[in-house]
Amino acid sequence: MDYSPLQAGAWLKWKFSSDQPKCGFKPVSDDPQADFDLWISYQTKFSFESILKNIGGVGLKSDEVAVGAVIASPSRAKPDYFYQWVRDAAITIQSLVEYLDDHQFNQGQYELVSAIESYILNSHKLQRLDNLSGSWESLDGLGEPKFLTNSTQFNEHWGRPQRDGPALRVITISDYLKILEKYDQAISLPDLKSTQWVYDNIIKYDLMYIITSWYKNGFDLWEEIDSIHLFTALTQLKALKNGINLVNSLVIEEDLDFQTKLKEAFQALRLFILFSSGFKIEEIPYLIETPSLLVQGKRSGLDIASILGSLRAHDVTSVDDSVEIPFPVNDSSVFSTLIALVNDMKYRYPLNHKYLKTVSGVALGRYPEDIYDGLGTSEGNPWFIATATAGELVYKIVYQIYSISGNYHFTNDQVSLINELSRIEDLTQNDHGVFVVEFGTESFNLITDSLLKYADSFIDIIRGHIDDEGRMSEQFDKYSGFMTGAEDLTWSYGSLWSALRWREKVSKLINTNRTS
Ligand code: NOJ
Ligand code: NOJ
Repeated sequence: MDYSPLQAGAWLKWKFSSDQPKCGFKPVSDDPQADFDLWISYQTKFSFESILKNIGGVGLKSDEVAVGAVIASPSRAKPDYFYQWVRDAAITIQSLVEYLDDHQFNQGQYELVSAIESYILNSHKLQRLDNLSGSWESLDGLGEPKFLTNSTQFNEHWGRPQRDGPALRVITISDYLKILEKYDQAISLPDLKSTQWVYDNIIKYDLMYIITSWYKNGFDLWEEIDSIHLFTALTQLKALKNGINLVNSLVIEEDLDFQTKLKEAFQALRLFILFSSGFKIEEIPYLIETPSLLVQGKRSGLDIASILGSLRAHDVTSVDDSVEIPFPVNDSSVFSTLIALVNDMKYRYPLNHKYLKTVSGVALGRYPEDIYDGLGTSEGNPWFIATATAGELVYKIVYQIYSISGNYHFTNDQVSLINELSRIEDLTQNDHGVFVVEFGTESFNLITDSLLKYADSFIDIIRGHIDDEGRMSEQFDKYSGFMTGAEDLTWSYGSLWSALRWREKVSKLINTNRTS
């Protein structure tokens, strides 16, 4: 197969060209659900393999790309995304760590350990490069968002610093250390020496950066606004928590002083997020990604980044996370954010108008006021990342509903949606005005099934806009629906893969529950 990047603007031709690869997924039956399920298994694998193709030393073997570097996209012009972003890389490698965990460290046909460990080693190198965000010595350089593919500095004007990078890196690397412990494995790459070495020389510096800078302005994940942002704050809080847990676990030895600093920063940031940040205010049901913009009347505050933040900051299998970290996936403000985004974007993007009279997922973009078209600024479009994230959120909500294994308290927005999706008679309020449905009843099953269908409808939208082989760019045009923006965007594959991973996890959980 030829992976050479398509020229921007060639998507239309690509979609119709007769020489499309023949290995892509083709429907095989007249049963739409069976076709959808088959496509899901094809696309899960295809997405994972497409991620690997964008990692130096794994699928990308060229002098131009450092081993362990994750490129954002192979597109070198219009737009030029042939760089490594700290954020995209950490989120991407997180998928590899999750894959390893899902397969009990038995990686089968993939060289995942070496990909993850070379990413860690590459991070060690990037951390130490003085750059336009600052020096290594002052640690300010850790806020640099973007590097050249050969792991040298990017010396052009950019929205910097971006303070989510070190946090996401801590989350990914500490998760890897945790699974090493879980499966009783050791670090393999000689240069990384040991888990303690990785902690002392990589993780700890990123934690120090967070401790000393979480309260400072920085650019958001969309690289546009210098302020305080919810996505950044939530990922920082999760990183601090992972840092505290690593120290508490037996693997890492740490001095008491640093532990105290971690805990103090965790408490301070947590209280800030909950009470003084303005991320959630009484008058507005949804989360406010960048409160300063709302205050200035420049934006509504609505942004898929808030949901992305909730997803990245919460391990839905951990009770601790949902208690200690604000805005877990089943929080009413998180669901309200989804509903508000859907209600805005189903009108905003013409390609969604066909769903106006149905209750279904729609194509989602980053935020209502977005004007980045993938190349320059004109009008914003739906993004694969945003649409997949909506699906992942709803799969995770259903996963939580099942793992609680007790009567579930639905939020008001969930109840409205459920009422639109299916007619449930015994969805009644208890004395406190809360809607509760008894676990395992017919209604309970009907509700969770309709929520899953709702999640699937976002994924099905993605299916409608990718090409026959399963390739994904960054965005799809809000009028024509054709792909636009950087092609083969690593993060698009990662976000779809992650949503599909949760689809599989929740299906398994439901099957076990219903058959037992
Ligand atoms: C490029 C950034 O990566 C993107 O997120 C942003 O929206 C545009 N620049 C704004 O011009
Ligand atoms: C633009 C996105 O806004 C940003 O989040 C991302 O890191 C870069 N593109 C690279 O994919």
